[in-house]
Amino acid sequence: MIVSLIAAISEGRVIGYQGKLPWHIPADLTRFRNITMGHPIVMGRKTYDSIGHPLPGRRNIVLSRSLTSLKECVLVHSLEEALVACEKEEEVFICGGGEIFREAIPLCQRIYLTVVHERHPGDTFFPEIPATFQQTAIEERQDLTPPITFVTFERVDGRVRGEDVEELRRKGKEAIQRQLFFLGRICLEQASAIQDTPECSSDLALCLAKSGGDVTVALKMAEEALQQDPHNPRVCLNLGRVQFMAGKQGEALATFRLGMQLGGGAELQAELVRIGTRHPPVIPSLPRENVLNRCLGLLRSKFTNHKG
Ligand SMILES: NC(=O)c1ccc[n+]([C@@H]2O[C@H](COP(=O)([O-])OP(=O)(O)OC[C@H]3O[C@@H](n4cnc5c(N)ncnc54)[C@H](OP(=O)(O)O)[C@@H]3O)[C@@H](O)[C@H]2O)c1
Repeated sequence: MIVSLIAAISEGRVIGYQGKLPWHIPADLTRFRNITMGHPIVMGRKTYDSIGHPLPGRRNIVLSRSLTSLKECVLVHSLEEALVACEKEEEVFICGGGEIFREAIPLCQRIYLTVVHERHPGDTFFPEIPATFQQTAIEERQDLTPPITFVTFERVDGRVRGEDVEELRRKGKEAIQRQLFFLGRICLEQASAIQDTPECSSDLALCLAKSGGDVTVALKMAEEALQQDPHNPRVCLNLGRVQFMAGKQGEALATFRLGMQLGGGAELQAELVRIGTRHPPVIPSLPRENVLNRCLGLLRSKFTNHKG
């Protein structure tokens, strides 16, 4: 899925004024319609209010923290939720307004921009386009009043200052924690294209496997990550999870144990419990190392072995 952003800006990066578009340019509306038709469009609640109805021929996804229902639209409560709702789509369009553009720009791959060569009053602005984007197409329309320019930008891999990398990695990790693996995959693919690290590529391998990607490719990535960073318990955790998904239970078990030896925490323990080699602590509210849990655990295993 390609996440694209589509916007019209005038001088000073103005995109809106008093809840509305500051201009009426039919050529731009036609371009918007042609580019987005048949694809899902994602917009903020204020932009939806300013349009006043769903745009036909497209799945209208509206972001709101406050609304609980919205007729004829898909209502979501976060950008992550919006992208997950589109994960099987070829291209999804983020179409404003200012709040949503700011949040989405680190995640998007392509920007379709209409530049309006005219000064307009504004209270809503388009964010700065990061240096990670390169102009790939331009069409000047000097014949129109006001004159406009259609520009397309693409995020270019590996030729950037790396300014968004930390943000993308943070979003990727957060997505994993919330089990939003497809979103994690988008963030981490972009992060690792800019600057790869073993931990990032191991997180990406997990997201790839969990979001319906090729498990064999994910396994190879996760194994290479551990070779490059052999003392990192998180990298062990990811590799073990991918091995488990690839049907390699024995190897997963060994990898989780290695992670524990490296000081891995609760998540590794939980995986061992899930695999069935470790019982949960007898008193779950106390740490496993607590003397009471250790004694009761010993008793439990003696009793189980005796019965068995
Ligand atoms: N020139 C262009 O290309 C273009 C395109 C679109 C819009 N616009 C203009 O931009 C202006 C509107 O932009 P705006 O920045 O004021 O508002 P907006 O981005 O359209 O909508 C903001 C609203 O979206 C919801 N929201 C934002 N982030 C969210 C999140 N992470 N999770 C859930 N909900 C979230 C909140 O809705 P709730 O308040 O309901 O919680 C928030 O109040 C208008 O003037 C419009 O005409 C221009």
